[in-house]
Amino acid sequence: MAAEGPATRRVQVAEHPRLLKLKEMFNSKFGSIPKFYVRAPGRVNIIGEHIDYCGYSVLPMAIEQDMLIAVEPVKTQTLQLANTNPLYTDFSTSANNIQIDKTKPLWHNYFLCGFKGIQEHFGLSSLTGMNCLVDGNIPPSSGLSSSSALVCCAGLVTLTVLGMNLSKVELAEICAKSERYIGTEGGGMDQSISFLAEEGTLLAKYRGLQWDKVLRLEEVQAKLGVSLEEMLQITEDTLHPEPYSPEEVCRCLGISLQELRTQILSPNTQDVLTFKLYQRAKHVYSEAARVLQFKKICEEAPDNMVQLLGELMNQSHASCRDMYECSCPEVDQLVDICRKFGAQGSRLTGAGWGGCTVSIVPADKLPSFLANVHEAYYQRSDQDFTFEKQSLFATKPGGGALVFLEA
Ligand code: GLA
Repeated sequence: MAAEGPATRRVQVAEHPRLLKLKEMFNSKFGSIPKFYVRAPGRVNIIGEHIDYCGYSVLPMAIEQDMLIAVEPVKTQTLQLANTNPLYTDFSTSANNIQIDKTKPLWHNYFLCGFKGIQEHFGLSSLTGMNCLVDGNIPPSSGLSSSSALVCCAGLVTLTVLGMNLSKVELAEICAKSERYIGTEGGGMDQSISFLAEEGTLLAKYRGLQWDKVLRLEEVQAKLGVSLEEMLQITEDTLHPEPYSPEEVCRCLGISLQELRTQILSPNTQDVLTFKLYQRAKHVYSEAARVLQFKKICEEAPDNMVQLLGELMNQSHASCRDMYECSCPEVDQLVDICRKFGAQGSRLTGAGWGGCTVSIVPADKLPSFLANVHEAYYQRSDQDFTFEKQSLFATKPGGGALVFLEA
């Protein structure tokens, strides 16, 4: 499956209300009918947070919410982008001069990342233009990867316009790399699941892509040839819980401060004064071990499976909160509320520092769970939940990116 390209499906547009609405809006915007449609889903990460870029497997699943783009290739070299959401303004540029401004996270820049990634992969200098109308229903800024879904969708749009083929894995690699044009330094999980997800399948394992030369924690384990449990003990024995200063790191590595800055630190960590090496390593190795335990429990399916999976999710949250420090008080509160009202496990998901939580809830408890969480978190909070309706929902593993042709 992974070696194949994304599927193309023939559909009766009139039977799909969202496609039909998009087709009509496209017609009133551009005065023509779309040639095809592309969808790419958002994702929720079940377990395995902040370890994909350390070289470890993670367990995301695609959600039903997605980016959907109606497309018409045109004879000129102009790329015209419009969005069904009036908050996102129209954009137009020459297909041969793609400029992505890292300082401005404007919506169209994510499209341009996918477009440019494919353009550069094939070394094309002369591209045809196209008209595109984008319709997204992934709640924005919520940790469900709406931006990566847009990059992936744009990548597949561009590939389809060019009439070229790439496997899902190649597409995921290109889109993960090209999202860096906007300054995102992700580990590739979001783009992989957007292309590789299979409906009804939870397991979408992903090992970090090898495009950077940084020595990752997984490589340390592989070089030592030890288990994750042994790595946790080595972390205990080797590192101290007190934060390291840059000078101490330099002393340990036998390098100068200048070398630390130029050879090891990324541009946005140049001025960091303390490094919690012990806590971060403990999180990564213990989280990687939890992903493997989660997989094993799913495969063995014991009677108390949901309870065991929930416990691992709870441990993951505690580790994200205390060791990786990527939670926040609102997310901690939401996790507590979800557990109180029937979740067997609940944890922050996605990058963190806000965003969203994922809970495992027995199906028979779902209606009361949703009602109680709504009441306890959304109705009682003084915060402004503009997207509240889209913010609390049940989901199952959805399928990956697809091209739709009108039948
Ligand atoms: C972001 C990145 C992913 C992953 C998560 C944290 O979503 O894009 O690659 O690192 O954060 O697990």
